[in-house]
Amino acid sequence: MNSPQTSSGSGIDISVVVPTYREAESLPPLIKRLGQLRDGGAALEVIVVDDDSGDGTDEILRQLGHPWVRLITRTDERGLSSAVLRGLAEANGSVLVVMDADLSHPPEAIPAMAEAVGSGKADFAVGSRYVPGGSTEDGWGVLRWINSRVATVMARPFTSVRDPMSGFLAIRAETWAKATDLDPVGYKIGLELIVKCRCRHVVEVPIHFATRQHGQSKLSLRVQLQYLMHIVRLARWKFPGWSSFLPFAAVGLSGVFVYAGLLWALAALFGSWISEDVRIVVAIALTMIWNFAFDRWFAFWYDRRTAVLRQFVGFVAVCSVPVLVNFFLTRWLLGEGELVTPIAGVLGALAGSIAGLLFNWVVARAVVFSRPPRCE
Ligand code: GDD
Ligand code: MN
Repeated sequence: MNSPQTSSGSGIDISVVVPTYREAESLPPLIKRLGQLRDGGAALEVIVVDDDSGDGTDEILRQLGHPWVRLITRTDERGLSSAVLRGLAEANGSVLVVMDADLSHPPEAIPAMAEAVGSGKADFAVGSRYVPGGSTEDGWGVLRWINSRVATVMARPFTSVRDPMSGFLAIRAETWAKATDLDPVGYKIGLELIVKCRCRHVVEVPIHFATRQHGQSKLSLRVQLQYLMHIVRLARWKFPGWSSFLPFAAVGLSGVFVYAGLLWALAALFGSWISEDVRIVVAIALTMIWNFAFDRWFAFWYDRRTAVLRQFVGFVAVCSVPVLVNFFLTRWLLGEGELVTPIAGVLGALAGSIAGLLFNWVVARAVVFSRPPRCE
C-alpha cells in the first residue's frame, strides 16, 4: 500500500491532487482557475496523476510551464483511487485536496475546504452537492442522480456525510499520515479516506457540480460494480464480526434448502436402492461440503491461507453436534413423524442449523478459522 508521507515543511500549504485519464482539453482551464487561487495568495501546488492517457496531457502541461504543476505519468497502473493515493503520497502541502480534472468541481471552493481542515475545525472536508447551497447541473439525468443517491445510502453505515461519493475532498496531511490498510477499489477514494483515516469531523462545503465541458465520464458499469466490492471491503474492515456472522448465517440457511432438496432428489432417484439412513447421511455430507465451501469463501474470507483439508476436517468435527441433531430428527420425522421428505428435511435441517448456528460459529471461529483482523 502507499505509505503516506507528511508535509515536508516545503512552504506549500495546499497540494491539489488531480487524477486524469484523457483530460488534456480540461487541464488548461482547470490550471488557469487554480492559478488564480495562487494569485490570490494561496501557496498551492498541483499534482496531476495521469494514467498514460496518450492524449497530449504531458505536452500541454509542458507548454503551460508552471513550476507549481507536477505531472506523474503512470504506465503500469490504471485506476482513479490508486492514482489519487500516488498523488497524496508525493504531496508536500499541509492540506491535501483531491478534485476531478473536468471542472465538475469548482476550484474556487478549495480555500473554504482547506480552511475547514487547516484550522482544525474538521479533519476532513467534502465539496458537497447534497447540503444546502449545493447542486448538480440540471442535465445530470435522473439515472445518474438515482445512482448517486443509492450509492450514498450504501455508504451510510460508514459515515453520515451527505455526499460521501464526492471526489472533491480536503484532508490534513497529518490525518492522511494516520491512514492504515488503504485498500480502495474503483472511484470512491473519499469514502475510503474518511473510514481508514478515522475522520470524525467532516465539514461539507456546498458546491455546484457542473457537467464536464470536454471528454467523457469514465464512470463505467465496471466501476460501479467495483463500488459494491469496496463496500464489502469496508464492512469487513470496520465490522469484522458482523461481516463474518451474517454470511455464516446466510450460508447455514441456504444449507437447509440444499439438504431438503438433496433428500428429496435422493429419495426420488434412489429411493428403492438405498436405505433412508444412507440417504440422510449422503444428503448431510454433501450439504456440509456446500456449507464449508461458502463459509470459507464468504464468512471466513480472511483465513484462506490455512490448508483446505485441515480446515475441512475441523469444520466436520465442529458440525458434529448439529449433524447428529439433524440426522436423528430427520429420521424421526420421516418415520414416526410420518412427514414427507422435503418437509422433514427442512425441519430436520432447520433444527440442526439453529442448534449449530451459534455453537458452530463460535467454535469454528475459535478452532477452525482464525479470528478476523480487527481494525483498531
Ligand atoms: N489517473 C486516472 N486513472 N484518473 C482517472 C481514471 C483512471 O483510471 N478514471 C477516471 N479518472 C479521473 C478523470 O480523469 C477525472 O479527472 C476524475 O477521475 C473523475 O472521473 P470522471 O469520469 O469525471 O467521473 P464522474 O464524472 O463520473 O464523477 C463521479 O466520480 C467522481 C470521482 O469519484 C462523481 O461521483 C464525482 O462526484 C466524483 O468526483
Ligand atoms: Mn467528471
